[in-house]
Amino acid sequence: MQVTMRSENHVGYVTLSNPPVNAIGQVLRMGLLEAVRWAERGRLDRVIVSGAGGIFAAGADAKEFDAAPQEPHLPEVLNAIDESFVPWIAAIEGVALGGGAEIAMACRMRIMAPGARIGLPEVTLGVIPGAGCTARLPRLVGLQKAVEMITTGKPIGAQAACSVGLVHTVEDDPIEAAFLVNSEALGCIVPTWEYHAPAHDADLFRMARENLQAKMPGQEAPVRALEVIEAGLALPFHAALAYERRVFLELKTGSQSKALRHLFFAQRAAKAPAHLKGAALEVLHAAVVGGGTMGAGIAYALLSSGLQVTILEADAAGLKRAEDNIGKIIEASLTRGMIDAARAADLRSRLTLSTQYSQAATAQLAIEAAFEDMAVKQEILGKLDAVLSADAVLATNTSYLDINEMAAPLMDPTRVIGLHFFAPAHIMKLLEIVQGAQSSDRAIATGYALAKRLGKVPVRAGVCDGFIGNRILARYREAADTVFMDGSTPWEVDDAMVEFGYAMGPYEAQDLSGLDIAYANRQRQAPTRDPNRRYIPIADRMIELGKLGRKTSAGWYRYPGGGGKVEDPIVADLAIEEAHFSGITRTDYSSQEMRQRLVLAMINEAADILDAGIAQSAGDIDLVTVFGYGFPRWRGGLMHYADSLGVETIVAQLEILAQEDPIAWKVSPLLSRCADAGQSLAEARPMR
Ligand code: 3HC
Repeated sequence: MQVTMRSENHVGYVTLSNPPVNAIGQVLRMGLLEAVRWAERGRLDRVIVSGAGGIFAAGADAKEFDAAPQEPHLPEVLNAIDESFVPWIAAIEGVALGGGAEIAMACRMRIMAPGARIGLPEVTLGVIPGAGCTARLPRLVGLQKAVEMITTGKPIGAQAACSVGLVHTVEDDPIEAAFLVNSEALGCIVPTWEYHAPAHDADLFRMARENLQAKMPGQEAPVRALEVIEAGLALPFHAALAYERRVFLELKTGSQSKALRHLFFAQRAAKAPAHLKGAALEVLHAAVVGGGTMGAGIAYALLSSGLQVTILEADAAGLKRAEDNIGKIIEASLTRGMIDAARAADLRSRLTLSTQYSQAATAQLAIEAAFEDMAVKQEILGKLDAVLSADAVLATNTSYLDINEMAAPLMDPTRVIGLHFFAPAHIMKLLEIVQGAQSSDRAIATGYALAKRLGKVPVRAGVCDGFIGNRILARYREAADTVFMDGSTPWEVDDAMVEFGYAMGPYEAQDLSGLDIAYANRQRQAPTRDPNRRYIPIADRMIELGKLGRKTSAGWYRYPGGGGKVEDPIVADLAIEEAHFSGITRTDYSSQEMRQRLVLAMINEAADILDAGIAQSAGDIDLVTVFGYGFPRWRGGLMHYADSLGVETIVAQLEILAQEDPIAWKVSPLLSRCADAGQSLAEARPMR
């Protein structure tokens, strides 16, 4: 039974009960419809509907979206509630999301607990609300707020919901408050479907459309939601619902909804494997070595999660820099209203900065975030090893280096893992947990527990140059540089990738992070680089010219006065010169060709990564590319996108490119095996 009913003194208590989040599937819908008839048969005074387990309902069961819809459909169930002569009151605790919020909107009254949230996140799953919200919400809160809530998908808190008129009152015990509502007053409340629709506002829709095009380019659902809200204003209530339902069903089976659902479930599946249960060390105090941009971001994230944090630096100048860096993050959070003065004081009170490693002696976890140099990192780990307790976990935030080599000099290399954060570390969601050959279960479990505590998406990676994300990034950049040298410009490449759905292309992104980082990496790799592999020298010329990116006001673009980017003809000429020196006849690539090359290069590299067991699954690579590298979310991540193209197609396209350069475009054996076996990458069996 997913809906329980009981009555007492003519009051019906209906409880939604489908743990863990009371997702609304067919059984729950049937139960709800039965509850409407039950309340009518008993001629009850009212029904109070709430959710079991401290949560109202998280919306329609997204696991049912791939199957054909089964009766009774949610819109019919909610119409039955809305039109019933027995008034329903929604008593909301936890969250009322999507279909859960729509149940509440079909009730005569809504009462929320102070910490509860209500919202319509459907667009984040690539659909629009499909059970009456696009018609009911504008009637309840007006056009502007309804458009904002439906198109952004962002939930709001109880007080905000009350102030916009979405809920009637905020009470500590919403069920008790619903019981106390005066029957006469309740009888005077008009059913939601009888409310008048707000007047059409052409300017509001135009501005909302422009805003969506700017902020969510390529995403279908928010624009379709806007269209449905607008069309619904001119239709009778039930016709508006029918139109909404049609669009909901159309989007539900579309590629964007499939991609976004895939990511939703992949994100939830990204947690510590069962065999690590109970193995994590409890962390109360963490040390961060190095207070540069990355170290300060990590320290801020740790402080925000409630930990005691010690930042260790080499000398007084380092301490000053670390203090400034963390101070800037705290100030920026204050300015943006993300924290208040009391919270800022609390964060500062748990932070210690020192040059003495002994200050970190009680830390259960240390994360080194010094610059990318093996000897420096080994020395730091050695010092930490000497002062921290024997069971403490030592983590490195290295982006590329071999953590097995790093751990080797320690007495106990099993305590070492990689925790690869992404800048800005207090904002970016991804955390690569790098497992060395000897990393203990406890160290890995502690990494997962930390990710959970910080609200990050953990992805386990094996040891290789760049792990999952940076190894794919390196190949992406190599492909971009080849396209640039052989016939394009950085801005044409960037535009092509922005059209694909990235917020920025590879060149603008590199200007932000700095060209010197990739240069240092190329220098390190030089001795082991395949001498037969084509090397594109343009990025090295940029270093010679002092064009390091935004920090020098010039990189692939120029940034006059530190302002916005401007195309730089000198940079375009570098490719023409280098192509001339190498005897290359340049080609005029279309944006489609550029995109194809860059995306295929990433897919091919990712397939090798999967085959070697560096990534555990195609879904993990999707999480890395979306949450760490800006791959368009609505394409579901790199491997999901590859599967949507079809592995056979990918192999055929790679084989054509391999005729041009058999080394750079050597088809990954995993792709070939999948193509032969008719398997998708999601089903692929890696060699390991
Ligand atoms: N359908 C199916 N399963 C769902 C679900 C949903 N709508 N929402 C959550 N779950 C599952 C998760 O997959 C997870 O399963 P697992 O334990 O097997 O991994 C479990 O519930 C717990 O979820 P979380 O790990 O996310 O738990 P949290 O406590 O961190 O978060 C939450 C809870 C805030 C409710 C979050 O799960 C959430 O945001 N859910 C999605 C809400 C949503 O998008 N609703 C709209 C659905 S579409 C709709 O309603 C259409 C309608 O208009 C017709």
